[in-house]
Amino acid sequence: MNRIFSGVQPTGNLHLGNYLGAIRNWVLLQKEFECIYCVVDLHAITQEQDPKVLRAATREVAAGLIAAGIDPKRNILFNQSQVPAHAELAWVFNCVARLGWLNRMTQFKEKAGKNRENASVGLYDYPVLMAADILVHKATHVPVGEDQKQHLELTRDIAQAFNSQFGVSFFPLPEPQIFGEATRVMSLRDGTKKMSKSDASEYSRINMTDDADAIAQKIRKAKTDPEPLPSEPAGLETRPEAANLVGIYAALAGKTAIEVLAEHGGAQFSAFKQALVDLSVAVLGPIGAEMKRLTADPGYVDAVLRDGAERARASAAPVLREVYDIVGFLRP
Ligand code: TRP
Repeated sequence: MNRIFSGVQPTGNLHLGNYLGAIRNWVLLQKEFECIYCVVDLHAITQEQDPKVLRAATREVAAGLIAAGIDPKRNILFNQSQVPAHAELAWVFNCVARLGWLNRMTQFKEKAGKNRENASVGLYDYPVLMAADILVHKATHVPVGEDQKQHLELTRDIAQAFNSQFGVSFFPLPEPQIFGEATRVMSLRDGTKKMSKSDASEYSRINMTDDADAIAQKIRKAKTDPEPLPSEPAGLETRPEAANLVGIYAALAGKTAIEVLAEHGGAQFSAFKQALVDLSVAVLGPIGAEMKRLTADPGYVDAVLRDGAERARASAAPVLREVYDIVGFLRP
């Protein structure tokens, strides 16, 4: 049986990009697989966090996942810091992974920026902890975006190196599960930039908690060009803003861009935007409302995470125990 593991950073302001790029796929996967979903608070502190903001964001992300349809009874949903085996396996992996491998990680270079000497050791070690997240549950499949592919390759390298160093075939080599169309949602103000929680303009993104009015306003103000919609995807190639809106529409409707353009080709943006507003409000409205309800009830969200953590500890404990045996540690 395939086992899915994925992690999401506890950042506030979950937006449409998070929903269409990741969360929605996680919801679909639970129909077929055993899924473990983790809010990665240990990863979050690799960059400085305000403790109050971190705690609120951890709850908000958990609420977002539940509101979007993750069923925490059928799956395991937890926050990483409640399951010490993640950090414990990361230590063993620190002694398997090589400096040379980490030196190639492009995300570290991006996040550390110019002042590399001042980056935390944790930020450098981030991919090793990620490998431990996945392998401590012996996950076989990991739904991630393009930007995490290199980290997943490193996870496979670590699994393989562990297996070969100790002459075992203990860890599976997990596969990325990359989803097709329209996973990349771009800014509503600039079709060449990813939709991001850190964009200064609120009008660049649709938040999962936006109400119908906010969604309508943002879509109406979204940047476009003066031409009507083409009737085939080829006509979108040099029109990033139009391509983005069509991509969003397609993803929300569960259709292909070809189908959307067959239906809306020739339409003016005023009409297409109205259709997109209606669709967005229909899909996101109930999720946002449920998120707000859950955020107002932190006791409930905390209880869900506590229960998930208990089950995640039960999943991880035997794997870590066996690793400790393989490595040669005395049993307690
Ligand atoms: N690095 C991932 C991200 O930023 C989050 C993450 C942490 C993760 N641990 C993971 C994703 C394990 C998949 C599996 O998106």
